[in-house]
Amino acid sequence: MSRRVAVLVSGRGSNLASLIEAAGAPGYPAHIALVVSNRPDAGGLERARAAGIEAVAIDHKLFPSRESFERALDGALNERDIDFVCLAGFMRVLTPWFVERWEGRMLNIHPSLLPLFRGTHTHERALAEGVLVHGCTVHFVVPELDAGPIVAQAAVPVVPGDTPDALAQRVLAQEHLLYPRALAMVCNGNARLEGGRVVFSESWEATGACRSPA
Ligand code: GRF
Repeated sequence: MSRRVAVLVSGRGSNLASLIEAAGAPGYPAHIALVVSNRPDAGGLERARAAGIEAVAIDHKLFPSRESFERALDGALNERDIDFVCLAGFMRVLTPWFVERWEGRMLNIHPSLLPLFRGTHTHERALAEGVLVHGCTVHFVVPELDAGPIVAQAAVPVVPGDTPDALAQRVLAQEHLLYPRALAMVCNGNARLEGGRVVFSESWEATGACRSPA
């Protein structure tokens, strides 16, 4: 059964685009039924509409509190019978109330190898620390920011002379491969949450939970 997925974005939506493309393939276990942005000018909304997907702006600035914004968001998701939520560059911190409502049904992609470099400016910080391997992570969302059980990671080598922009581009290319795979694994049951950890099926290697440099 194809799961009904909503993607939440705040910006350009390149990860959204990769999810839309992947979900269009025959046999993919999910389809993108809705895109929501807290920013009416987010490029991701246009991308969604161009693909024929319903795209809704719920402008957080029009709500008196974080809770009232989240109630509107939760309402929009429930009205459309959404099964699963993917955060893809969604730049609002979600309260425990919202996160708990979607517990085990909400994924995020983060541009670092968690638990390293939670928060923002991950590429600058990776370069400042001199790590030789950087990357990206897809994880279940829990109330603590950029924490939560890890579903998939891709490693990206840091090369001499790297800049934050160059590194970000190479990480982003991996994000575009990783997120669709992680979502598929969760939707088809190859990655399951059990006792606060992700348990993989025997075929996890084939499904690409862990990508590393050649
Ligand atoms: C990505 O780097 C993602 O990892 C982070 O925000 C960025 C979103 O980019 N959470 P895009 O809007 O998907 O292009």
